[in-house]
Amino acid sequence: MTVTLASRMQHMKASEIRELLKLTERPEVISFAGGLPAPEFFPVEEMKSISLEVLDRAGRKALQYSTTEGHAPLRQKIAERMNRTQGTSVGADNILVITGSQQGADLTGKLFLDEGDVVLCESPTYLGAINALRAYGPRFVEVPTDDDGMLIPDLEKALAAHPNAKLLYVIPDFQNPSGRCWSLERRQGLMELARKHQLPVVEDSPYRDLCFEASSLPSLMSLDRDNLVIHLGTFSKTFCPGLRLGWVTAPKGLYEKYVLLKQGVDLHSSTMSQLLLDRYLERHDIEQNIARITAAYRARRDVMHAAMTREFPAGVRFNRPQGGLFLWVELPEGIDSRDVLAAAIQRDVAFVPGGCFFPNGGHHHTMRVNYSNMPEDRIEEGVRRLGSVIRSFLR
Ligand SMILES: Cc1ncc(COP(=O)(O)O)c(C=O)c1O
Repeated sequence: MTVTLASRMQHMKASEIRELLKLTERPEVISFAGGLPAPEFFPVEEMKSISLEVLDRAGRKALQYSTTEGHAPLRQKIAERMNRTQGTSVGADNILVITGSQQGADLTGKLFLDEGDVVLCESPTYLGAINALRAYGPRFVEVPTDDDGMLIPDLEKALAAHPNAKLLYVIPDFQNPSGRCWSLERRQGLMELARKHQLPVVEDSPYRDLCFEASSLPSLMSLDRDNLVIHLGTFSKTFCPGLRLGWVTAPKGLYEKYVLLKQGVDLHSSTMSQLLLDRYLERHDIEQNIARITAAYRARRDVMHAAMTREFPAGVRFNRPQGGLFLWVELPEGIDSRDVLAAAIQRDVAFVPGGCFFPNGGHHHTMRVNYSNMPEDRIEEGVRRLGSVIRSFLR
């Protein structure tokens, strides 16, 4: 059978790394590869009773189609929480419930991008967004970053070189993959340039609430006076990713367009999931849940950082993220982390080679290491094994 696929399929390539990572699903593997929350904090007992309550109260409605915008009381709660924790002033009518914030990346690509359009992003950036946007055939222009976020003079240069850039995609809080958090100055600098160029900014924000040390910095949306920021939020990291619930907060004018596009994709996000989450938020204090998760991740970060300090040879650099799920490692140039992964898998340890987070390639000496999904003793053991694998490459 010969079939002719859409030209966009040329941009979509299966990844060798994903094939390699399939080997890490064996239970004996100490995996620092995924971005999975710790399942021991999922509120299973609470959700059992809430499921019964939802079916008792809403009956068949819980299993029926519902509106594209999402369950109204849930949208209201999301808007109120954003305003309370971020200092935004959004209304429920700015909130579109989506099927995980991943759907927000896809809808954003659909809304803004024609083939060849320029997307500015951090270097490195989130692989899932690269993949979602790539389907629309853009050119990614990577802007260099350091521990405080994007380098603003480099962003300015990129904007001068690409004055028609369509979109700026960023993850200011505890970024995936680097764990970095943007300073206030960088946030302000970005917003100034966005204003000057009237450039839409996508603020992807799944890790914002998983903040270990100081209190969080203002979100880009809270600094926006020109309706340029589209904010993507999610309950995946603060609650349960399996419910697949996130949201887009968009200014009027763009909001309706997101709704229109979502209608064509899945009509609406799961009615049952939305009712379960809404009831959970009524019955329980999600802030307590977030505090518990954050404390556990902080402890795991500490264990991983201490183990790396002990076990990794000189010349390997790694950061100490102030929140989120990931720690970023730079091996000496010339060591390819894909080879390190292949060797590590032989020792039943896994991580994600960092090159895949750079849309234009390169940077193969980097690694993303997740600390949220393994207990502390396995983190110690995994880092010990990784250290010995890395040493074998330095010899
Ligand atoms: C930066 C970023 N954006 C979006 C997502 C997607 O999350 P979800 O679709 O579960 O909300 C992730 C998941 O890891 C992420 O790291």
